[in-house]
Amino acid sequence: MSYQSRLPKSPLAALAVVALAAGTTTALSGAVPAAAFPGIHHPHAHPTITSQPWGDFEGQTVDLYTLTSGAGMKVTITNFGATVQSLWVPDRRGRSVDVALGFPTLSDYVNDFLQQHTGVAWPLSGGSGDTYFGATIGRYANRIADHSFTMVCSNCSNNGVTYTLPANNGTNTLHGGDLGWNTKVWSASTSQGPGYVALALSLTSPDGDEGFPASVTATVTYTVTTDNELRIRYDITNNEPVGGKATVVNPTNHLYFNLAGESSGPVFDQLLAINADRYSPIDTNFIPTAPYQLSVAGTPFDFRHPKPIGRDITNVSSPDGTSGPFPQLVIAHGYDHNWVLNGSGYRLAAVAQDRGTGITLWTYTDQPGVQFYSGNFLVGDLTGTGGHTYRQTSGFTLETQHFPDSPHHIGEPGWPSVVLNGGQTLSSMTTYRFTTGGTITHFGF
Ligand code: GAL
Repeated sequence: MSYQSRLPKSPLAALAVVALAAGTTTALSGAVPAAAFPGIHHPHAHPTITSQPWGDFEGQTVDLYTLTSGAGMKVTITNFGATVQSLWVPDRRGRSVDVALGFPTLSDYVNDFLQQHTGVAWPLSGGSGDTYFGATIGRYANRIADHSFTMVCSNCSNNGVTYTLPANNGTNTLHGGDLGWNTKVWSASTSQGPGYVALALSLTSPDGDEGFPASVTATVTYTVTTDNELRIRYDITNNEPVGGKATVVNPTNHLYFNLAGESSGPVFDQLLAINADRYSPIDTNFIPTAPYQLSVAGTPFDFRHPKPIGRDITNVSSPDGTSGPFPQLVIAHGYDHNWVLNGSGYRLAAVAQDRGTGITLWTYTDQPGVQFYSGNFLVGDLTGTGGHTYRQTSGFTLETQHFPDSPHHIGEPGWPSVVLNGGQTLSSMTTYRFTTGGTITHFGF
């Protein structure tokens, strides 16, 4: 009924987790053998990590960290919101391309991420709203209907207690509330070893934070490897004693990708495949609705084989012979849904590719779902890191996570639990790995 300490089960994944755990605790110790990163393409590469001051937020110093793989990948991450600001990878000709949507300055992030709290729409009302560009989302990613839930737990002190949360998305709670983890300054520590550099970012979210029960401590560890991977590990501990208050947690990262470059325009032609036979249909409040999981077969939601993201998004003729706009795409103005990933444990969740740059993104996760969002709320009012404006489909997200609105389905079959009991730790990992190469035509999920 509740989270156990979930570590990936496959031999490859288990190795990865061991390496990360050691990497976050023993900087420069050399304790992590290179062999812990199977598949290293660049064994002689030298990853680096540096930092620079990036400004202040509410009297706290904010830094921008730069992690390089030594094999052409460079990631900048700020401890404001534990946010990935840019993600540079080589294309097939060796040119460096920033494949992550982001802002050039800290004040842009503060204006964008704090607007729900301050009530000051940025840059104008009726605009793109809070983008969550590259941010860490917590304590609960995605939507909780009616901005409340009733805890269902055993060996806990709050079974049956109903909690009221901020309504920051119509009547829903979205991405942890008005002041989610993307609005906090995280404390940082760095480490490195053979084949990797790592940035560990931590915060404590107190009991009652945004209405959620129980104090939790979260650490997000970003690791860049010589294999041009960005690994994101979450360790979240419920600080209550065993038998104390349980809580719900569902962390994710909100990177928007554009594999032709963040300024390059629509991602319609980029290929995407998702390792999922089913998706979660939503109602007009974007909340999963019965029967909760539908087959993708014969619908625009079928990404079981690589296809251009835009192929069916505007297509009024469905593969099953019906015609007219697909209702689920009408509700969301595009894709903004949970795909129920096939299998369990740490596994390949999705592959995406731009055929021009050749940049290919491999997403691995131990999570049960992925929210594929086609940037539908971007309306052309935001200027990104490269000086261009972002519009619908300027980028797409692959937010690995539990199913939306899971707190209303605790204990129900088909709904993996998001309950974290006192004394328990959730450990989870998602990897974004970049390669270049031939056109993906199929892959064996
Ligand atoms: C996504 C969510 C979208 C939108 C976006 C932020 O995760 O599914 O509906 O809210 O975040 O603009």
